[in-house]
Amino acid sequence: MTYQHILSELRENILYITINRAQKLNALNKDTLTELADAIAFATQSHEVRGVLLTGAGEKAFVAGADISEFSSYTVEQGETLARNGHATVFDAIENCTKPVVAAINGFALGGGLELAMACHIRIAADTAKMGLPEVTLGLIPGYGGTQRLTALVGKGRAIEMITTADMISAEKAERIGLVNAVVPLAELIGKAEEILNKIKLRAPLAVSAAIKAINAAGTDGQNGFEIEIEAFGKCFGTQDFKEGASAFLEKRKAVFKGH
Ligand code: COA
Repeated sequence: MTYQHILSELRENILYITINRAQKLNALNKDTLTELADAIAFATQSHEVRGVLLTGAGEKAFVAGADISEFSSYTVEQGETLARNGHATVFDAIENCTKPVVAAINGFALGGGLELAMACHIRIAADTAKMGLPEVTLGLIPGYGGTQRLTALVGKGRAIEMITTADMISAEKAERIGLVNAVVPLAELIGKAEEILNKIKLRAPLAVSAAIKAINAAGTDGQNGFEIEIEAFGKCFGTQDFKEGASAFLEKRKAVFKGH
């Protein structure tokens, strides 16, 4: 698939995905979502990809939300379909990606933009970034998982305050309340995200993906996270990576994992 609205580049086993509509503050129109879905599916399937770094083009915005111009005349059914498809192909696909996905929040992360960042496994923000879920100013609510993921990350009280006031918060506050993992100067943003991904790249890939799956199960309705953990733990013993990891430890050398 040729991309028009995102840049996608695989370098040293990291897939760099940049949402590239800076003139519209990287707002997520339908085509951008289709391209993102394709890039995430590639990351999930490709053995070459060990991690994903997701960011926005330019210095102003990560993503300023879903593209409002596209859904201004939607019906009830179209609204529900938009949300349902977005969940399945992009937002849940990112959360369930077997490779770690790090959001490098380089500016405004609003509405669908913050929801996109929240679907990622780790969030690093530039100190200039601003975050919020302003949907109620449009007569909407977050539709790409924002009510659920924000609540899981910051707790019910703060989620209700942020969503119902529509207030934006600073990167510093986002870090304080657990919405982002770290805040760095903008110039250091990509480097910080790479530092984390490069560290994860050295770990056993199958174990990393099993950990993501088990952690995702925490608090998920219909899933027994403890049971998923127990099964995934057991499966690790059947991997070459476990044999390599244990041998390397006993032989006092660094493990070299192959993801088998
Ligand atoms: N959907 C569609 N277009 C958007 C957009 C969105 N979510 N966010 C920004 N844009 C467009 C603007 O319409 C403008 O396009 P134009 O130059 O063709 O008029 C361009 O991006 C630049 O945005 P602008 O509003 O002029 O920048 P600003 O610096 O004055 O304000 C924001 C920045 C982020 C505060 C403002 O763009 C904003 O409030 N955006 C919408 C945020 C939102 O409600 N998101 C949730 C959507 S569900």
